[in-house]
Amino acid sequence: MSKADLIVGLQWGDEGKGKIVDHMAQTHDYVCRFAGGHNAGHTIVIGDKKYALHLIPSGVLNPKAKNIVGNGVVISPKDFIKEMEQFGDLGGRLFLSDKAHILLPYHAMIDQARERMKGDKAIGTTGKGIGPAYGDKIARVGHRLGELLNPEKLTEKIMAYFKINASVFEAMGIETPDEKALLEELEGYKAVLAPFIMDTTQMLWKILDDHQKVLLEGAQGTMLDIDHGTYPYVTSSTTVSAGACSGLGLNPKDLGKVTGIAKAYCTRVGNGPFPSEDLGEEGDILRKNGHEYGTTTGRPRRCGWFDAVAMRHAVRVNGVDQVALMKLDVLDGFEEIKVCVAYEVDGQDIDYVPYDLEEATPVYQTFPGWDKTQGIRTFEALPKTAQSYILALEGMIGTKIGIISTSPERDDTIIR
Ligand code: GDP
Ligand code: IMO
Ligand code: MG
Repeated sequence: MSKADLIVGLQWGDEGKGKIVDHMAQTHDYVCRFAGGHNAGHTIVIGDKKYALHLIPSGVLNPKAKNIVGNGVVISPKDFIKEMEQFGDLGGRLFLSDKAHILLPYHAMIDQARERMKGDKAIGTTGKGIGPAYGDKIARVGHRLGELLNPEKLTEKIMAYFKINASVFEAMGIETPDEKALLEELEGYKAVLAPFIMDTTQMLWKILDDHQKVLLEGAQGTMLDIDHGTYPYVTSSTTVSAGACSGLGLNPKDLGKVTGIAKAYCTRVGNGPFPSEDLGEEGDILRKNGHEYGTTTGRPRRCGWFDAVAMRHAVRVNGVDQVALMKLDVLDGFEEIKVCVAYEVDGQDIDYVPYDLEEATPVYQTFPGWDKTQGIRTFEALPKTAQSYILALEGMIGTKIGIISTSPERDDTIIR
């Protein structure tokens, strides 16, 4: 029996998971998504082609890898089908859990209406309907992909759902769908997706029993986790390692090596605390050099310095075996580089993530910068100050930095 290797985001998402999953997919038979929905945006660059994946696992670009979307994911059939179209025939290479929940257009409308009503307290969601879809799942009023196989019955259930929630939907300005149009929409989804829907849990157990190599692809990041992130400024799923078990039907003993993905600095999209955010000129340089604009929504990402305190929290909660440090090249040209090494809360320095991160101000240590790391493929060829920066981070987070990435390109990757 083999064990499944795991990739998780250690910061606020967009760490570069897609690039590393694509890189590792070359030595794995299956790539599996376990959480999130089309709020995720994973970018992969191969030569002069750039792909943005939202729901389909990043193994899809490797013709030999097969792809599973697990029960922990919320699937918008409309967006999934659109994403599939760029890859031609995926028959035999793509499998969708019958237990994954369906995200429908009304979930996005509810998401957007709630955000509008929150005003300046808005979470800054992607507006894709993620919160309402997971909310329905937990409230036990959601619909699963398996139900798509019987569109008449599913239509009846959705119409009943609208009837029960009529007053709430009216207040939000959301109209009840036309029954006939809804049935047609669901039949259209079924026509495309039915061949891919199955019990992926049993399938995955057999794959592991057969000693095949499996890679589990996380979405979002640890600080966006529903329990372990900066609640309520989080997404609605379990983004950490534990989510890989529940989101695919695995048990903790099925997990192998955990690779945590982190940028050499920090970014966040949406609202909520971000202690090491740099609102000055240096933050702007990070945004410009790192092309820090969202893959899913195009929003500018908030930028700041590597946060070693949040990173230790993430390493522990995920059981990280090695860190992949991404976008080192974005720090090229800085004279000095800051790292948040502690937080000050109520006049005291602390070395852990407090209950309310909004209260924390960063305590920085400064490191000398370097000219150029872009495209470098061995650790020894990195400027000495870049090597020292990496070794210092390793010391602070107590985990090996086994992978270093120096450009978006698949092969500009240092394996130590
Ligand atoms: P994900 O959501 O974690 O998969 O990350 P995103 O794809 O949303 O954002 C990461 C961005 O950084 C993408 O545009 C990648 O192409 C890019 N990227 C990944 N690694 C590197 C790197 O080492 N250097 C640079 N400059 N860009 C990178
Ligand atoms: P990947 O997989 C970065 C953020 C949103 C918002 C919060 C809640 O590409 O790393 P949601 O729509 O999920 O209810 O929004 O979570 N968010 C992400 N930020 N990367 C992501 O995914 C994200 N998915 C959600 O910006 O702050
Ligand atoms: Mg992303």
